[in-house]
Amino acid sequence: MNVEKQSTLSEHSKEHYNALGEQYTEILNARAGTFGLGSDRNRCRMIFEFVRRHCRGAILELCCGPGNFTFVMGEQLPYSTIVGTDHSETFIEIARRQNTCPNVAFAVQDATRLTYPDDSFDTSVVSLALHEMEDDDIRSVLNEMRRVTRKGGKIILIELHIPENPIVRVMFEQGLGAEERPTTYHLNAYGLPRFLADAGIPMAEHRIVCMSTVQIAIGVKGAAELEPTFHRDFTSFDPWQHLVVPSVATFLSTMSGLVAHQLGAGRTQ
Ligand SMILES: C[S@@+](CC[C@H](N)C(=O)[O-])C[C@H]1O[C@@H](n2cnc3c(N)ncnc32)[C@H](O)[C@@H]1O
Repeated sequence: MNVEKQSTLSEHSKEHYNALGEQYTEILNARAGTFGLGSDRNRCRMIFEFVRRHCRGAILELCCGPGNFTFVMGEQLPYSTIVGTDHSETFIEIARRQNTCPNVAFAVQDATRLTYPDDSFDTSVVSLALHEMEDDDIRSVLNEMRRVTRKGGKIILIELHIPENPIVRVMFEQGLGAEERPTTYHLNAYGLPRFLADAGIPMAEHRIVCMSTVQIAIGVKGAAELEPTFHRDFTSFDPWQHLVVPSVATFLSTMSGLVAHQLGAGRTQ
């Protein structure tokens, strides 16, 4: 088990998320709404489709937050058992309260030092959390994922990706906190493959999906050297959902910013 000292960023993350509590789900739903997805659960359903075929058996999710992705796995994989974990006690309490899936459980766990024995899960997954961590913590998380996943089991990393499309990028960056921006750029492109390689986890595939806002890297514990495949998936592209809605939202948010600025200027004159 990893017994390194908790980093400042990790402590900050725990306090930050514990304080946000229920509000976080509202923020996630609002963000998904801006991208025309309706709710964060729908966002999770969309992303789950890209990793479904890699998920089986006993599944561990690290950094699960209030559990939206965990619940989607629970609904979609009725013959699997899923444990969602997070270091925020508040999120785990919220997730437990909302849980209606008999095959889903939640536990408070620090992803850099899990308490589970070696080789205890068939699949491990972390979604949209690594970009909020320092490099040392990312390395510890991947070492822990490798340790608790059985040989041949999949290690699934889902992360943000900076979209190339300028309109989608404006929308995307608006949703990022100032402190998340450098770490997200840091993980872009070959960030995840590099961290997997450093942790000694052979990579089977790397995908860039959802209008290039999400990347997925699949590692296989203990596999002989793999020839990874690289995909860029445009099949989910829907011009209305991915261009028109973001464009109108960007226009409206810019206009409301201008109006607020003018009103503020008027008041100081
Ligand atoms: C951006 S949220 C992502 C939540 C969820 N996975 C999702 O996709 O919506 C990041 C989560 O990582 C958790 N987290 C950050 N560092 C952690 C650590 N060292 N151990 C466990 N959870 C951690 C935070 O508490 C938070 O819930």
